[in-house]
Amino acid sequence: MRSLPQDLPRHVAIIMDGNGRWAQKRGWPRLKGHEQGAHSVQECLNACLEVGVEYLTLYAFSSENWKRPVIEVKGLMFLLEQYLGSKIEEMKKNGIRFSAIGRLEGLPKSVQERLHKAMAATADNKQLTLTLALNYGSRHEIVDALKAIADQVVLGKLDPDSINEELISASLYTAGMPDPDLLIRTSGEYRISNFLLWQLSYAEMTIIPKLWPDFKKQDLLDALENYKNRKRRFGAVNA
Ligand code: FPP
Repeated sequence: MRSLPQDLPRHVAIIMDGNGRWAQKRGWPRLKGHEQGAHSVQECLNACLEVGVEYLTLYAFSSENWKRPVIEVKGLMFLLEQYLGSKIEEMKKNGIRFSAIGRLEGLPKSVQERLHKAMAATADNKQLTLTLALNYGSRHEIVDALKAIADQVVLGKLDPDSINEELISASLYTAGMPDPDLLIRTSGEYRISNFLLWQLSYAEMTIIPKLWPDFKKQDLLDALENYKNRKRRFGAVNA
């Protein structure tokens, strides 16, 4: 186990991009890229466990991804089910608390069941929180948070004057989690793609040209090393 440097991000968020291109470059169906992408997830988890990152949040299926061909969506859901079904014991052994964010009720019932089972089985773990963003869209998340806040106001339980940043953060799917310190996106694209818009306000960003299935443990360790050299000022002159 490596030492825990002060400048290690507590929370790393990743936009795992490039699975389809990785497969297509090889003349394979896109699903092959997603399958290989699941191995990269494992590599990242291992790196985070090794150095002591506390939160790893992965964008696994966006609210826009339903627009993909049915066969790809079904394949991705199957892959998720398989992953969740096969990894619970390993998560327990490694102290991983599993969590999921997004409009989970919109996912197939079989996936929902696996998600809830994995969350319940790992709820007491403390080493690392692995969060999958599924059927996730940041704008949906903000809409859902605002509706919950408005309900409280209408019921007379909340004074609109007491609405502040803390309350909004606590009303998001990520309630209780620190904001990401580092956002990594693979495949060389410079976009946030409706991912954690509120929570990423002060995150450092690293864009990696590699496609997600080529992303290995060392790539994550390199990104953490690079993060160490960033000067985070949070809008001030010196922080
Ligand atoms: C983006 O690549 C990737 C996704 C939409 C799915 C991510 C899923 C996985 C990494 C595998 C399953 C995850 C787990 C946790 C088991 P893309 O398909 O948009 O790539 P492209 O831009 O090259 O088409």
